[in-house]
Amino acid sequence: MLKSALFLKDLIIYSALMSPKKKETEAPALTKAGAKTFQKEIYRYFREHGRVLPWRISHNPYHILVSEIMLQQTQVQRVLGKYELFLKKFPDFHSLALAPLRTILEEWNGLGYNRRAIALKNIAQIVVQEYCGILPCSAETLTTLPGIGKATAAAIAAFAFQKPTVFIETNIRRVFIHRFFSDRINIRDAEILPLVEKTLDISNPREWYYALMDYGVMLKDICENPNRKSAHYKKQSPFQGSGRQIRGRILRALTFQSPVSENEILQQLQLSPEKLNAALSQLLKEGFIRKEKNSFLIA
Ligand code: ADE
Repeated sequence: MLKSALFLKDLIIYSALMSPKKKETEAPALTKAGAKTFQKEIYRYFREHGRVLPWRISHNPYHILVSEIMLQQTQVQRVLGKYELFLKKFPDFHSLALAPLRTILEEWNGLGYNRRAIALKNIAQIVVQEYCGILPCSAETLTTLPGIGKATAAAIAAFAFQKPTVFIETNIRRVFIHRFFSDRINIRDAEILPLVEKTLDISNPREWYYALMDYGVMLKDICENPNRKSAHYKKQSPFQGSGRQIRGRILRALTFQSPVSENEILQQLQLSPEKLNAALSQLLKEGFIRKEKNSFLIA
């Protein structure tokens, strides 16, 4: 007993001598007690201030999928105005799989990043044809579906199926940087992930991630955005005048009145012929629109 205690002490001194300075890439040490204290703090905030959101009331995998795809690049407030209308129009995988892209884009209007609407339709078709209308519950299988990356797959698995997955999204990143990396810059997600894993509430991952996200939203209001210290932080480039904005305007025009000729689009949207051409080529390439005779319509 004494021998092993001495050995442990020696080891601690030895490791302190060998690593006088913490390496830049080393994740901060976290004890079990430290993880518990952190959980308690986050849950206390959630009990008092947690948001009630429609996609948190349902655990239906289709509802969760739709909400997570919508929330990938769109603010909660904007999604709130669209989510329930979308589900009313397309209540399940079958209705979405059969819907014309044009009617999906009608409901998507206002959410932006329209590629996600095509991805959702494709996912619905795959789920109906290859999975008997049932969304797979494994995060790994979910990543094989269009428009679903690792983080979205893990989030769906946690929210729809209570799987103890490990993932980071923007609000979660903010919490961990604020709490564990206050004296660092250039923090990589690879350094944060081990802490997400260590602090995960495996008995209720769904609620744990809701709580983390809401704590992250609160932090945005009370301090300078900790995510500025993330190695992955990017300021969004201006939307006004961007190719994305032009493509969005063209799609909106075609969604509500197609087919339309190139000249009519040019006049309606007051664009330069070069910009219109570039935007139309990309929309054709991405499968949003098709050309019939000399007019364009939603594919
Ligand atoms: N609740 C569940 N998923 C969410 C998300 N992606 N953003 C905000 N709240 C959520």
